[in-house]
Amino acid sequence: MNLSTKFLGIKMVNSLVLASGILGVTGSNLAAVCRDGCGAATTKSIWLKFHAGHANPTVLHLGNGNLINAVGLPHGGIEEARVEIESFRKLSKSPLFASIAGSRLEEYAATVEAVAKLKPDLIELNISCPNVEDEFGKPFACDVNLAAEATKLAKARCGKIPLAVKLSPNVANIAQIAKAVEAAGADAIVAINTVGPGMVIDIETAQPILANRVGGLSGPAVKPVAVKAVYDIYKAVKIPIIGVGGISSGRDAIEIMQAGATLVGVGSAVVDGGSEVFAKIAKEMEAWCKQHKIKNISEVIGLAHRS
Ligand code: SIN
Repeated sequence: MNLSTKFLGIKMVNSLVLASGILGVTGSNLAAVCRDGCGAATTKSIWLKFHAGHANPTVLHLGNGNLINAVGLPHGGIEEARVEIESFRKLSKSPLFASIAGSRLEEYAATVEAVAKLKPDLIELNISCPNVEDEFGKPFACDVNLAAEATKLAKARCGKIPLAVKLSPNVANIAQIAKAVEAAGADAIVAINTVGPGMVIDIETAQPILANRVGGLSGPAVKPVAVKAVYDIYKAVKIPIIGVGGISSGRDAIEIMQAGATLVGVGSAVVDGGSEVFAKIAKEMEAWCKQHKIKNISEVIGLAHRS
């Protein structure tokens, strides 16, 4: 049984991807995660210029692996990204996906242009962070026209590097947004970003605990939301999907692939279990495939859509 795969021409040892913002702080962190068994690693979301993010507390553990976070997309700017990507390339031959943040359409476009020069294997356009609404308003992924416009501008600046657009589950019809970004030139969809936003109140102080007051939910509790989003998107588009949301076992990975994901992003499970979780998930996927006489992992993609 072989878990290796090819995604938009990118060769990977397996279908597992480190989701953006998790351990992706330095090139050596990212390389270590790849050594520990993920097929590709995603950087934290890159800004053109320094972006501070939110004050602490930024992450709360809700139990059973579930998290609420409002980190606020902190990043040092394009020079920091250059150092991160160059040091990763010296340490690892694994594929590297570069996530991009921004506040205005023109800023996204300029950042994509600058990041494309650093030659990541894929560019992930993060237009769906729910934690910067006070600064920048609703994420572009919540508006069909803005999502399409951001995609079009980014695609024109990616050159030959494939473009994946990260969508928000916090919309009435995610499939409609996916269709619009596909028509605007996206090569892949990443679904989903965190759910919410939600709020946790300290009842002794009667105040929200997160410094940003609200944050996005992730972990096993959101997996059914991610599976449903991927299922709906798979029916609506032809481009491949990177399914993300509450994946922590081989069975979870198979489930989201059956919904339609080609690759599987892992985030919160790494916060709790460390990067060893990738080897564990890959081993469990392999065992499940052997048990079900599946020779190639691609046979699993979209199986839930058989009538
Ligand atoms: C954050 O930095 O607040 C989370 C990133 C995201 O949700 O895209």
